[in-house]
Amino acid sequence: MNAIRIAEGVYWVGAIDWNLRNFHGYETEKGSTFNAYLILDEKVTLIDAVKEPFKEEMLARIASVIDPSKIDIVISNHAEPDHSGALPFIKNIAKNVKIYASFGAGVKDLSAYYGDLGYIGVKAGESLSLGKRTLTFVPTPMVHWPDNMVTYMTPENILFSNDAFGQHYASDERLDTECDLPEAYIQARKYYANIVQPYGMQTGKALDALAGLQVDMICPSHGIIWTKHIPEILALYKSWVANEYDDTAIIVYDTMWHSTEAMAHAVESAFLACGLKPRLYNLHFCHNSDIIADAMTAKYIAVGSPTLNNNMMPSVASFLTYFKGLNGNKKKFLAFGSYGWGGQSPDQVFEGLKSPKCEPLLPAIKLAYKPSGEQLAKITADVVQALQNQ
Ligand code: FEO
Repeated sequence: MNAIRIAEGVYWVGAIDWNLRNFHGYETEKGSTFNAYLILDEKVTLIDAVKEPFKEEMLARIASVIDPSKIDIVISNHAEPDHSGALPFIKNIAKNVKIYASFGAGVKDLSAYYGDLGYIGVKAGESLSLGKRTLTFVPTPMVHWPDNMVTYMTPENILFSNDAFGQHYASDERLDTECDLPEAYIQARKYYANIVQPYGMQTGKALDALAGLQVDMICPSHGIIWTKHIPEILALYKSWVANEYDDTAIIVYDTMWHSTEAMAHAVESAFLACGLKPRLYNLHFCHNSDIIADAMTAKYIAVGSPTLNNNMMPSVASFLTYFKGLNGNKKKFLAFGSYGWGGQSPDQVFEGLKSPKCEPLLPAIKLAYKPSGEQLAKITADVVQALQNQ
């Protein structure tokens, strides 16, 4: 458990959680890392801490380069416990440590979690000299909580970006030049879609605030560190913030006896006929967080559910709740479903999707029992017409 040098006098001292599979509802199939960084200067400084169960791993990495009791300063960029959980432990070891957090929200949130550890609030543009280096603080509220800030260090031009530019991606490689880069991009997209997406406007403001800075290294609080591929990850963030669409169409459904599934395929045929790239997700097999990652850049979403005991299926209700909380761009939607009697689910799905950001292409589509070939062909024709009328 050694510190990993990432620049002269700057070390990664975080923790790797190979086994993390759920991050408040987000399936993290590649695990994650909780990144903390140690700066050896006249003032020994720790940037962020780690989730509480990983405090001994962080301590061992710090101890591999310096006595942990010599830490003078902790910068807490974000109070969520995956980055702050080990703060009381560090405070107990480095008794005189000063803990800096964003003025207002950062101090308030840390106080709520850990009581008064003597926090110092810092405002936008405020600087702190460590000796040879200077830290400057930039608030980035709602990327991902109200308290978030990033810390910029000169002369190395390192941006400690906390949740921004992160990925839930466990690996022993720390840099973008060493890791499986395509996987890092996949996980960066999934992270943005599942954590940051509802706050695209605030993320855009954060990107604007950082635009004038020369950044040679981005050190997020999860996943790999961006060095050579900073332009690429910045370009991806700009496209996500701008809510740019691709040509995919998302079809999400559950099914009891394959009737709603047949309707999903009828919708698929319509999207194909209109030159779109449909993607189908049976909720029995697909996780909400993977669908959200794909849905982020789709202009169209269709959701189907059979009626089960006068309701949509619980899997569909779960997806709609997750989607409603995260969807960041405007979409057109379809609601559909089969039924035996009752038949409430398509209208429930319709109401669950309808919002200022999500407008219907057609009224809810419903069919009793097993749909015939003619009925499925009519669904395809109706959806094609609705798409052509756009
Ligand atoms: Fe990685 Fe908002 O915590």
